[in-house]
Amino acid sequence: MSYQIAIDGPAGAGKSTIARKVAKQKGFIYVDTGAMYRAMAYYLLTKKVNPEDEHGIEENCKNADITICYEGGEQVVLLNGENVNGVIRREEVGNMASASSPNPKVRERLTLLQKELAKTNNVVMDGRDIGTCVLPDADVKVYLTASARVRAKRRFDELSEKGISCDIEQIEADIMKRDEQDMTRKVAPLKQAEDAVLVDSSNMSIDEVVGVILDLCEKCEKERDCRWK
Ligand code: DC
Repeated sequence: MSYQIAIDGPAGAGKSTIARKVAKQKGFIYVDTGAMYRAMAYYLLTKKVNPEDEHGIEENCKNADITICYEGGEQVVLLNGENVNGVIRREEVGNMASASSPNPKVRERLTLLQKELAKTNNVVMDGRDIGTCVLPDADVKVYLTASARVRAKRRFDELSEKGISCDIEQIEADIMKRDEQDMTRKVAPLKQAEDAVLVDSSNMSIDEVVGVILDLCEKCEKERDCRWK
């Protein structure tokens, strides 16, 4: 039986940074499911599928073989055998991921892969539907959020540091639009699982959030009679 930690939440809440740190502390693998949706989106873009063409998405997604491996502890996403880590963070890929991830066929394929990974490995998995759909029996479930303003400010600082000029109001508007899309889609919408612990990181440091999650793990391990030891 594997040990499963599920972290869901909206874009920019700090899920990946925190999940990566928790995974390191626990010695588990970190599974970034957003990267898988991005790899699928990248494939659809290379096939010139229109984001609104549902049939085109369903037909083409069948030919995208997405797997992950680890290099130096980092997740590498392979699309038909090719490392696509370098291209999936682009803006247009994010937009296509947002348009294609509601498609049931895309979700079916990627959810299956995610479940398989968690069956055979101890995982910290982050995404939008991990606690609700992918790992409904996860040992620890966290819904990590922060106000739209704080998330926009974090993104603004990140881009400014890279010398990219940007407008915080525009970033905040984009974040709110993305939240709305993720929360209102028909299949696997973003929502807090009933048994997930809500963590609002608006006024917390990364290490404080990591500490809260590690405490939840400890509590869970004690309650379940140390079944993993
Ligand atoms: O977290 P991210 O920005 O890398 O995610 C990219 C897109 O994939 C985003 O629009 C939401 C979607 N996604 C999803 O639908 N389900 C997940 N488990 C993870 C991401």
